[in-house]
Amino acid sequence: MSSPQQIRDLANSMAQATIGSPNAVSTSPTATSYMGSYRPRSYSTTKPTKALRPFSTGDIKILLLENVNQTAINIFNQQGYQVEFHKTSLPDEELIEKIKDVHVIGIRSKTRLTENILKHAKNLVVIGCFCIGTNQVDLEFAAKSGIAVFNSPFSNSRSVAELVIAEIITLSRQVGDRSMEMHNGVWNKVSAKCWEIRGKTLGIIGYGHIGAQLSVLAEAFGMTVIYYDVLMIMSLGTAKQVSTLDELLSKADFVTLHVPETPETKNMFSTPQFAAMKNGAYLINASRGTVVDIPALVDALKIGKLGGAALDVYPQEPRKNGEFFNDDLNTWTTELTSLKNVILTPHIGGSTEEAQSAIGVEVATAVTSYVNEGSSIGAVNFPEVTLRGLDLDNADSVRVLYIHKNVPGVLKTVNDILSSYNIEKQFSDSRGDVAYLMADISGVDSSDIEKLYEHLEQTPYKIVTRLLY
Ligand SMILES: NC(=O)c1ccc[n+]([C@@H]2O[C@H](COP(=O)([O-])OP(=O)(O)OC[C@H]3O[C@@H](n4cnc5c(N)ncnc54)[C@H](O)[C@@H]3O)[C@@H](O)[C@H]2O)c1
Repeated sequence: MSSPQQIRDLANSMAQATIGSPNAVSTSPTATSYMGSYRPRSYSTTKPTKALRPFSTGDIKILLLENVNQTAINIFNQQGYQVEFHKTSLPDEELIEKIKDVHVIGIRSKTRLTENILKHAKNLVVIGCFCIGTNQVDLEFAAKSGIAVFNSPFSNSRSVAELVIAEIITLSRQVGDRSMEMHNGVWNKVSAKCWEIRGKTLGIIGYGHIGAQLSVLAEAFGMTVIYYDVLMIMSLGTAKQVSTLDELLSKADFVTLHVPETPETKNMFSTPQFAAMKNGAYLINASRGTVVDIPALVDALKIGKLGGAALDVYPQEPRKNGEFFNDDLNTWTTELTSLKNVILTPHIGGSTEEAQSAIGVEVATAVTSYVNEGSSIGAVNFPEVTLRGLDLDNADSVRVLYIHKNVPGVLKTVNDILSSYNIEKQFSDSRGDVAYLMADISGVDSSDIEKLYEHLEQTPYKIVTRLLY
């Protein structure tokens, strides 16, 4: 197994080899809004640290379903894990058979890991969701069973930002309509109401991972960037934060939405917001479908208040390719699709090869770091805990990973057991009913390790014990 530094080096080289940029696994560096959710996977250190290995789990077995990206397979192979790879999801009976035996499962959005499936997973330590969402997994049951879940919420930020740049130009030059006319044999060379984007103002609503990336790209095109966010966020370049949504709407030639789906953002854009926009301005929504009141958008386009709109997301979306996008799904579809200068894309903002590679690297790195080091930073269902690496010269040290029910008295019991050794460092955190303790202890004779494990296993309220040494 690799040391923490080796895992990081490998992840970086994977990113460079397959994506072309070491930044592909990192996120926009300066926006502060997401700092609460994004932290490095583990502490960086220039000093080599001791490579840990799991005790009593045997060789790590990984089941990868749904054609998880090759970057992830490379990272797992490099660790010497046993990887079983399937291009598709599996029927439930087969999944139950296979999940009984594995320590890690990697899935995308089609595999449903319900309580009924997970209760068969006796050795499962961690689930890697190689996608953005995690609602296909029973997160609570997983946490209560001591199974951490990781995903990759921000690996496709750049892809979304680039699509939005393309849409700004496409709307401004009415490229969608011209292309449609040419496909129908019509030559219609016009310049009226077609504009350069240089010198125009872009209003970004939600200056997080995507909004911040977009800000930099738009400035490179000579646009003036203003943004509105519920948080005070330091700007990139010369972008300026405005204090109200109305101020943004009154100044922006292009308004683009990059907010999450929350009760506050539901229909955040409706008749009053369209009325407050500049005449002939454009709206872009690649955030979530519920953010825009589409009948109100249709009205604003019909009366010429807006010069056009680009939508990538919708309140109701087909569940799979080939299903119809029509009035049965959303009652306004025919009206919307008949309007001029409206670009409609099927939720492809984040759908690029680069994003898939980056997701593979990010999730596989997090999973490896959890298996090898116990670091749960970035887990979606679990207390986030990490410790810096063990020094190489700590030959007699052991890392204790102890997941337990969040009830009084547990730490006292555990520390009584650990007190025969030197506790070098420890950190514990809880989330809901589940708590997670990491402790590095030294002065452990190798003949003690099994006994130590048995003691911890026998404590009340224990969920899972792992020892790395
Ligand atoms: N189209 C796609 O394929 C695609 C791909 C990835 C993400 N998304 C969506 O894009 C959106 C943005 O993603 P992100 O990664 O940049 O998220 P993020 O969490 O990094 O940033 C969201 C920003 O919105 C701000 N915000 C929250 N509520 C707000 C409000 N009411 N008014 C103004 N600002 C508000 C937050 O403070 C934060 O700065 C999300 O809805 C996400 O689901 C779409």
